[in-house]
Amino acid sequence: MSASDLPIETERLILRHFEKSDLDSIMAYHLLPEVQRYLDRKARDKTECKAALDGMCAQRRLHRPGDTLTLAVARKSDELLIGQASLRWTDATAGQAEVRFVFNPTFCRQGYATEAVRAAFDLGFDHFGFHRIFARCGAKNHASARLMKGLGMRLEAHYREHALFQGEWDEELHFAILDREWRRGTKVKEIPTHLVA
Ligand SMILES: CC(C)(COP(=O)(O)OP(=O)(O)OC[C@H]1O[C@@H](n2cnc3c(N)ncnc32)[C@H](O)[C@@H]1OP(=O)(O)O)[C@@H](O)C(=O)NCCC(=O)NCCS
Repeated sequence: MSASDLPIETERLILRHFEKSDLDSIMAYHLLPEVQRYLDRKARDKTECKAALDGMCAQRRLHRPGDTLTLAVARKSDELLIGQASLRWTDATAGQAEVRFVFNPTFCRQGYATEAVRAAFDLGFDHFGFHRIFARCGAKNHASARLMKGLGMRLEAHYREHALFQGEWDEELHFAILDREWRRGTKVKEIPTHLVA
């Protein structure tokens, strides 16, 4: 599985591979304490950001289960990198994948994350042929939960006190959507509004 169709263009965004030159842009959000808990590779200084970037630059293919494809999300208008979205192939037989995303808070609440994750779903279902894409977030992460519900994902589980995070009980929500549900939802969105009762 490869993503030869990159970069992907949406209405306002470009989703592309990460490049070494993205260091300053990712430092702008990877170094923020409120963002660090969502990162696969926590970065506390420029050296650690560079290591995280090297990792994301290498995440370009989904060859086998366990692989991750990480996409840099940039605005079309000024090519500014505003966040990242990734697909991790978790199970080959059942066609399962996990979506993850992190955006620079400076650019939040403008629909950019929703637009990027929508493109990641199109890539996952149409290009890679996944059957189900799931996502996890903390129970208090209202922004992420709203985003997932807004995209038509179903809340499938609420794990109560399933782990300790920084000395406190953690609660985790699991959302998911099937390929046919995504296609059905996409079709519904394409029906002209004046035809919808
Ligand atoms: C979650 C996150 C991606 C949202 O980014 P964003 O660019 O604001 O997302 P959007 O603008 O597309 O908004 C998505 C929904 O979240 C809501 N939202 C955004 N910020 C919010 C906040 N601080 N509080 C409550 N809701 C919020 C929006 O109103 C929108 O819901 P609506 O369509 O019902 O109005 C961003 O906050 C983030 O990067 N968080 C850290 C990473 C993370 O939580 N990852 C999840 C684990 S995979």
